[in-house]
Amino acid sequence: MSFIARDVSLQSRMRVEPPSALQIDIPRFRFKPATVDRFGFRHSSPHNEAVAAFETAVHGVAAHKPSTGADLSRAIVADPNLVAAHVLKGFANLILAREEFLAPARGAYRDARAALLAAGGGTGDEAALVQALGEALEGRFSRAAMRLDELVEENPRAFLPAKIAHALRFMLGDVSQMLAASTRLLKRWPLGAPGFGFLLGCHAFALEESGDLGAAERVGRCAIEIEPEDAWGLHAVSHVHEMQGRTREGIAWIERSRPIWTGCNNFCFHMAWHLALFHLETGAHDRVVAIYDDPSRRTTSAMWRTRFRSSGASSSKASPSAAAGTS
Ligand SMILES: [Fe+2]
Repeated sequence: MSFIARDVSLQSRMRVEPPSALQIDIPRFRFKPATVDRFGFRHSSPHNEAVAAFETAVHGVAAHKPSTGADLSRAIVADPNLVAAHVLKGFANLILAREEFLAPARGAYRDARAALLAAGGGTGDEAALVQALGEALEGRFSRAAMRLDELVEENPRAFLPAKIAHALRFMLGDVSQMLAASTRLLKRWPLGAPGFGFLLGCHAFALEESGDLGAAERVGRCAIEIEPEDAWGLHAVSHVHEMQGRTREGIAWIERSRPIWTGCNNFCFHMAWHLALFHLETGAHDRVVAIYDDPSRRTTSAMWRTRFRSSGASSSKASPSAAAGTS
């Protein structure tokens, strides 16, 4: 279900209506409707179908869903000028951090800029998102994350930029900024607002990486309660178990949440790797080998690659989840 709100924003450009003897009071400025998606992002597109598909893709990014690439493709088919969809596709490819995905990321950036131009400059959110992708493509991840921070300062309900900034800082290993950003966000994010649970998952991971293991576990468990599909929060708690040597609890935690992480994109392999580590620590080598040899691992991997290539967008790490896949 989509929760699309309509909004009216004054675009930066001016459009002069054609002269007409019958229309003497035609406004010189044109107001262009913007669409605010359920995750707070402001699009210039008036196409609800495209925005609804984009919302699904954003949820997919947050939850590490393999369907994200297909959702982005649907959004772009519904509106080829949906700027944010092109940008997310670009980040999705870029965050995979593999050379073969750099060209698609650059292609998505070109499409995003063209869409922005077609939208007459787009909304402030769209322009900032495109700029951030441009910085990231030049290897300036920190500046890209700061540009996304600025976007969130101007639009405090914009979830996607916050999630992408978290992923970029994760890739940089910038734990202090990761924690500073999630702390700042959660201070003002309304309880229960879309994205809140996923942001808690980001905060839990930042806390864990900062060594505040008790808080990380509390926040991570809370994230899962609010967003049961928050694999990143689930993963943060697994890290706490690992760091504290709570091997049996770690196994139980990952086994209990198996229905969640087995539905993820390639992030499921990372969770399986954590599970195998726990079994290794107990000396259950047969279990470790069984996890490694699990036929579903190879099948899932092949399916994911096929989907990824056919969609032309990264469905895995495409997300900040991508980042998760390598932690
Ligand atoms: Fe991990």
